[in-house]
Amino acid sequence: MIKLTNYLSHSYGKPDSWKLSAYESTGGYRGVRKALGMSRDQVIEEMKKAHIRGRGGAGFDCGTKWSFMPKEVKKPHYLVVNADEGEPGTFKDRSIMEMNPHALVEGCIIGAYAIGAHSAYIYVRDELHLSKERLWNAIHEARAKGYLGKTPFGASYEMQVYVHTGAGAYICGEETALLNSLEGRRGEPRLKPPFPAQYGAFGNPSTVNNVETIAIAPTVFEVGGDQFSQLSVLHGINDGGARLFGVSGHVKKPGLYEACVGLTLRDLIYELGGGILGDRKLMAVIPGGSSCPVHLADEVVNSKDPRLEPYNGKPFLDLPLGVDTFRGAGSMLGTCCATVLSDSADPVLALHNVMRFYRHESCGQCTPCREGCGWIERILNKIVEGRGSIAELDQISEIASDITGNTICAFGDGAATPALHFVRKFRPQLEDYVKNGGKSQTGRLTP
Ligand SMILES: Cc1cc2nc3c(=O)[nH]c(=O)nc-3n(C[C@H](O)[C@H](O)[C@H](O)COP(=O)(O)O)c2cc1C
Repeated sequence: MIKLTNYLSHSYGKPDSWKLSAYESTGGYRGVRKALGMSRDQVIEEMKKAHIRGRGGAGFDCGTKWSFMPKEVKKPHYLVVNADEGEPGTFKDRSIMEMNPHALVEGCIIGAYAIGAHSAYIYVRDELHLSKERLWNAIHEARAKGYLGKTPFGASYEMQVYVHTGAGAYICGEETALLNSLEGRRGEPRLKPPFPAQYGAFGNPSTVNNVETIAIAPTVFEVGGDQFSQLSVLHGINDGGARLFGVSGHVKKPGLYEACVGLTLRDLIYELGGGILGDRKLMAVIPGGSSCPVHLADEVVNSKDPRLEPYNGKPFLDLPLGVDTFRGAGSMLGTCCATVLSDSADPVLALHNVMRFYRHESCGQCTPCREGCGWIERILNKIVEGRGSIAELDQISEIASDITGNTICAFGDGAATPALHFVRKFRPQLEDYVKNGGKSQTGRLTP
């Protein structure tokens, strides 16, 4: 069921939407006024009621994450906003920073207040020049109005927001690699525990949240946590509200759509995305960034999760897009930005492309990931060039299984997932490449 909303996107495409005047003319900075009138605990409770699952990929409940910040520790606390947005197929945070940056600044004040921080750092991927420019502009405008500074909105709670530029490494989106990079160190993930709430930026308690997670916070205080949660069609699954859904690849209308949680891939591809490009057939879809499993067009749900019983045996395309619905079905919602492959795509070349990316972006800290990603890429080079063997197809799965769960961070699992799923689901096409010396008869790219 499609229920479009426009909490974050109402200003998209409107003139000067990134400026304070435009933001305030549509009710901006009202949510923060309400939040600052509450106690920290009340703010956290309100976020918990909203059931906002982290929009960065892991889907952790935002209010619960805020509640982990220690109250008794007297060291500085920090809110760190993850604006690295490097997951292939994902382009939602950038739209917020470019077209609605004040929502993020307002969300930073709310989030920082809730966790006891007086500073928020927004860590932005370097190449997002317009995002940085508009964020800084929003920060300067908010400072000039006194919304940031010693007494925001009259509250005696000093607050500053800063933009920190990354250097364009996918791994720096992993929260602890991001913290290292923020501190000027190599962007390599840290062992957990300790978690950022205990030992985060500069060794101090910190919370890392995605751009969209923070930017939606003002809406929660504007409409109320319960009301926001109930927008979702996933009642009883604690995955509340509305969020940005992206769709790209072989669809007629690629783009971002803001809607209540729970619409399906079918809604996203055929209704919002306008259907398959060139009126071809859908071959497969990756639900939320390249680290998620790829699903074939005719794949059906087979879940042991009792909450998903009604969906068992039904097409994946009709499973509501939610963190727990996709996890329960053995998949991942990820960033909720789907990549669509029509039958014009060559899945072998798609896998090759994805695995080149992971080999290039592995930070090299953990041996299974560093060596395994390189090994898989080299096997795929051979297959694409017509020098591969059937035995090597099984080797890809073995190497990917050995990476899974054996690395410091989730990059390893994210790299192994496409390898495992593509090899399982596109075995005939891969074998075809091997048998025909690299000139596959099935699934070749059409001009
Ligand atoms: C390799 C890797 C890359 C990641 N990239 C991003 C990213 O670009 N943006 C993001 O918000 N989260 C990213 N994450 C997830 C973060 O580690 C973290 O879970 C997230 O920022 C938490 O915010 P949330 O709870 O609001 O979702 C990445 C994780 C991994 C393992």
